[in-house]
Amino acid sequence: MDELRELIIEKVKNKKMTFAEFMNLALYHPQYGYYQKENPFGMQGSFYTSVDASESFGRSLARGFLKAINELDLEPVLCEMGAGSGMLANDILNFYKDEEPQFYEKIEYIIIEKSEYLIDKQKELLKAHEGKISWHSFKELRDFDGVFFSNELVDAFPVHRIINISGELKELYVIYHDDKLQFYPDDFSTEELKEYINRLNIKLVDKQIADINLDAVKWIRDLGKKINKGLVVTIDYGFEAKQLYAPFRMDGTVTCYFKHTQNNDFFERVGYQDITAFVDFSALMEYGKESGLDVVNFEPQWLFLLQSGILDEIKYAESDLHKARIRSLIIPEGGFGTNFNVLIQSKGVKIPENFFYKKRSTELFNELSKIYSEI
Ligand SMILES: C[S@@+](CC[C@H](N)C(=O)[O-])C[C@H]1O[C@@H](n2cnc3c(N)ncnc32)[C@H](O)[C@@H]1O
Repeated sequence: MDELRELIIEKVKNKKMTFAEFMNLALYHPQYGYYQKENPFGMQGSFYTSVDASESFGRSLARGFLKAINELDLEPVLCEMGAGSGMLANDILNFYKDEEPQFYEKIEYIIIEKSEYLIDKQKELLKAHEGKISWHSFKELRDFDGVFFSNELVDAFPVHRIINISGELKELYVIYHDDKLQFYPDDFSTEELKEYINRLNIKLVDKQIADINLDAVKWIRDLGKKINKGLVVTIDYGFEAKQLYAPFRMDGTVTCYFKHTQNNDFFERVGYQDITAFVDFSALMEYGKESGLDVVNFEPQWLFLLQSGILDEIKYAESDLHKARIRSLIIPEGGFGTNFNVLIQSKGVKIPENFFYKKRSTELFNELSKIYSEI
């Protein structure tokens, strides 16, 4: 049970490690990493995502993506990165198969997934859609035309932790001291942290911790270069930098989930619990610009789902339970309505002024008040 912890202890006895290195091992160590061995999703796992809440999530995404492909004249290609259990791909492809058979004929679905264990799971679940889906590495992706999307991918990238100690910024490293793994502040491991803090104008008060996702910077820069024409849709929990690094978030946002219970015992159950941090969407917008990604909209998930046609799902939901699950995706209080946001970026296409992903909440308000009276 403690193999990974022991392995990390051996490493840090010789040399301190950044929290990003620690998190990368805890989640993705090829043998013992959290995403490499047990099914982390749903009831038996550590956490739920919107995908587990209801198939209406995937069906709504499917509606929106089809509309975007038609309106922007994109190729019928979807690329999902970080596909987890494969359920989202399944919900999307089932929707097209059942309700848009002509589009289903043409569609090409690409999955980019880091975990070998999850790739096997996805292949098993998605057997019915054989021939439609292919698995590729991120490196292989190029000249992409279509819709590239992810749900809760970026929050699973390793983060660096920095702290303001009496006006001086330090990085928190993982060390082994007094027979335990613990944090230790020292100089930054890379200049990129300083560049990020300056560029996003992050100001921390004394003793405040911030979690910095440098992998997200690299990812969005690289991704932009790989897109020829299309949309990049990033769904995750997180905020813009000003809100994310506000002084009331003294301890940063990185946290752990073990069997649906949140904790901050980072050095316990190593490889057996999820570790995740809120996404800094400002960084995705800022660094995405470098490789030609323009911001179409940054908005709450509930609004994005309304734009994507989730109201149609409610109309056809057969049971109260199904309606309640859909509601958990869009009500602003609690559930997936609160901290979840969506960033839509584009490259190589002209976005019409009245593009449906830009529709404002006021325009949707009448429809929204109607569902509140129905559910
Ligand atoms: C929190 S899970 C979300 C899964 C799924 N999208 C959902 O919403 O249920 C994160 C997923 O991203 C994958 N992942 C993390 N880093 C990745 C990377 N660099 N390349 C591809 N997949 C990655 C993980 O293996 C896992 O499948």
